[in-house]
Amino acid sequence: MTDPLRRYSDTLAALTRDGLLRVLPGTSTPPDLLDFSGNDYLGLARRPELVEAAAEAGSRFGAGATGSRLLSGNTSLHEAIEARIARDKGAEAALVFSSGYQANAACIAALLDKTVLGAEPLVFADRLNHASMHLGCALAGARQTRYRHLDLENLQALLEQYKDEPKPKVILSETVFGMDGDQIDVARLQALALRFGALLYLDEAHATGVFGPNGFGLAETIELAPTTVVMGTFSKALGVSGGYVACSTLVRDFLINKAGGFIFSTAPSPLVLGAALCAWELLPGLTAERAGLLARAERLRQTMRTMGLDTGASTTQIVPVILGDPVRTTAARDKLAALGIRVSAVRPPTVPQGSSRLRLGLSAAHTDADLERLVQSLGEVVRSL
Ligand SMILES: Cc1ncc(COP(=O)(O)O)c(C=O)c1O
Repeated sequence: MTDPLRRYSDTLAALTRDGLLRVLPGTSTPPDLLDFSGNDYLGLARRPELVEAAAEAGSRFGAGATGSRLLSGNTSLHEAIEARIARDKGAEAALVFSSGYQANAACIAALLDKTVLGAEPLVFADRLNHASMHLGCALAGARQTRYRHLDLENLQALLEQYKDEPKPKVILSETVFGMDGDQIDVARLQALALRFGALLYLDEAHATGVFGPNGFGLAETIELAPTTVVMGTFSKALGVSGGYVACSTLVRDFLINKAGGFIFSTAPSPLVLGAALCAWELLPGLTAERAGLLARAERLRQTMRTMGLDTGASTTQIVPVILGDPVRTTAARDKLAALGIRVSAVRPPTVPQGSSRLRLGLSAAHTDADLERLVQSLGEVVRSL
């Protein structure tokens, strides 16, 4: 008789052999731990106002939403946060989801649905887009034409090549890339999408809170076209969890009718949305924190370059230290942990083969002294590898 678990254990053995096994980090937090492994870019996750707002929303609306938005789960809190996001993003409407992953999977799958579009769409995607965007495409059975990372010349050439194809065209891109910390020129990208009649879907997971004059994301710097859909999360700079899309009223109505991950899932908890709305309302007042965060990231990159470290094309609060080999990368992470510094080791398939890296997520809560300690320890660790 075959063992129904054998293939799973073989897979784990192969991952272990290749230095790619994922294990959960320990939960103990040494008192002097310096944490660069998170996405709490503005240091909001532990702000008392957010915790109080969650409790207040809970006492008004309950701990859980009790059902899908279309059944029992729609509250004035859900509608209030959506109205606020739509206004601040310069969109007609918005829709919230329990996670960013769910938002991408649900919305992209619905927007690419070939029974709706009448044909399989031509999907042009940055080759380093997040896994949740790939999932949306896979759910729709839509093949992706991947263009070179951030390369709008390459994208334009592909759009030219397919311009006479009558199929609907869709472009998918993050705005700030989560593993590389580089960013797309949103104005140029939207102009290209408009020129070629393509729907544009932007993922602002890592830009929300950090970029834009008021912290509402890179798309805040452009006038959103009705054919642009902007997704974002509450889980990174806002310090909470959940996702949203800002879009036209038409697209919102369509998603409410066709996005399975919206229709067949319990509405986000009022506890979470209470905290998320509180964090969102704080964003315009955090200009100094954003400027300090980005300036410190720039100084860190300069110092690391003088140390001969490869920080890729990062221009944001996310700074990779590209070491290449997965085993060296996990060894570096573990040695830093022994020195009281927590960073993430990111390996394939999350990043391309040969580009394993330490990922440093900076926060406005870090101090100059924290960064000095990081640089010094990193220098020691890399020399010892
Ligand atoms: C670019 C990008 N999009 C979407 C997500 C998913 O967001 P969430 O963590 O809120 O599910 C992530 C999270 O890692 C991300 O980096």
